[in-house]
Amino acid sequence: MGMPVKRRLGRSGIEVSALGIGTWAIGGPWDFGTSPAGWGEVDDGESVAALRSAFDRGIGFFDTAANYGAGHAERIVARAFTGKRDEVVIATKFGYRLDEAGKSVTEYDQDGEVVDRLAADCEASLRRLETDVIDLYQFHINEYPVDKAGAVRDALEELVVAGKIRCYGWSTDNPDGARVFALGEHCATVQNNMNVVHDAPEILAVCDEFDLASINRGPLGMGLLTGKYTKDSAFEANDVRSAGWFKDWFHGPIMESLPAIREVLTAGGRTPAQGALAWLWARSGRTIPIPGIRTTAQSEENAGALAFGPLTRAQMIEIEDLLHNRSS
Ligand SMILES: NC(=O)c1ccc[n+]([C@@H]2O[C@H](COP(=O)([O-])OP(=O)(O)OC[C@H]3O[C@@H](n4cnc5c(N)ncnc54)[C@H](OP(=O)(O)O)[C@@H]3O)[C@@H](O)[C@H]2O)c1
Repeated sequence: MGMPVKRRLGRSGIEVSALGIGTWAIGGPWDFGTSPAGWGEVDDGESVAALRSAFDRGIGFFDTAANYGAGHAERIVARAFTGKRDEVVIATKFGYRLDEAGKSVTEYDQDGEVVDRLAADCEASLRRLETDVIDLYQFHINEYPVDKAGAVRDALEELVVAGKIRCYGWSTDNPDGARVFALGEHCATVQNNMNVVHDAPEILAVCDEFDLASINRGPLGMGLLTGKYTKDSAFEANDVRSAGWFKDWFHGPIMESLPAIREVLTAGGRTPAQGALAWLWARSGRTIPIPGIRTTAQSEENAGALAFGPLTRAQMIEIEDLLHNRSS
């Protein structure tokens, strides 16, 4: 297989680098309701440098959200690409009520409010991103009722007509929801949780059927797949990974096969992070991983994955066998 330098944002036809960068972690601390939802303290200078360093290495696709740092991550993206707006493709997300000054995000009181607030939420993101159009606008509520999603989709179509957004998608792991959005002409993507130990065949099937891209969140298992964390690792109280569910991941059966999987991922000189990205590229021609970064070093390492390209078919089979305890 060749080097996956470019991929399409589904049927929008918008071309992006096969690797995007996620910006949840660089939003800094914020609360979702009463729970910490950021990744601890950040150094904005380092965040900007990390984004620019990715850009200098051929990455032109950046995923952010109004939520991340209650508006802060969007502002950091704007700062990183001042004067370069036309050279990057920016995806952001909506669906929640922001208190920027209080660094807090809450759910709207009623489902219908998401639609009622959509135009204003879009304007607020445009302002923070210092742009007049959002390339990809994503619905952030993973588990929003599928029977009410058509109204959100139709309101997004209106934003396309108004020239505020170029295309849209749903950030959801529910294939039924993805199907409802796919019926809209300018729906181009699904954003779903996907990595080497968490496949998403049903979402990929919807993407194949409707010509959508699968943008992969959590491609490094929130850092876990890089091998640097153990079940004894400690996180700051304002890091979302201090919550119990992150530790629980270390006790799942999948963790037993991880060291062996990592050997396959790193054969050929890749780091574990680069191998995890290569698995996603090999899994489908529609995947676009968006690893989060906090430092220039991470940015460089992840961008370096592009030069290696996807895993081979033999390596993919080897990993599948390891996951299912079969011998190849
Ligand atoms: N739609 C949604 O609801 C949703 C949900 C989750 C994520 N997302 C999007 O998807 C993006 C990616 O997901 P994610 O950030 O949750 O998880 P991820 O990409 O799996 O993990 C990112 C984290 O791993 C560590 N890391 C990154 N590169 C590394 C490297 N080369 N070596 C060692 N460690 C490295 C960094 O954290 P440390 O250095 O602190 O370990 C980084 O913040 C997010 O940034 C966001 O844009 C969307």
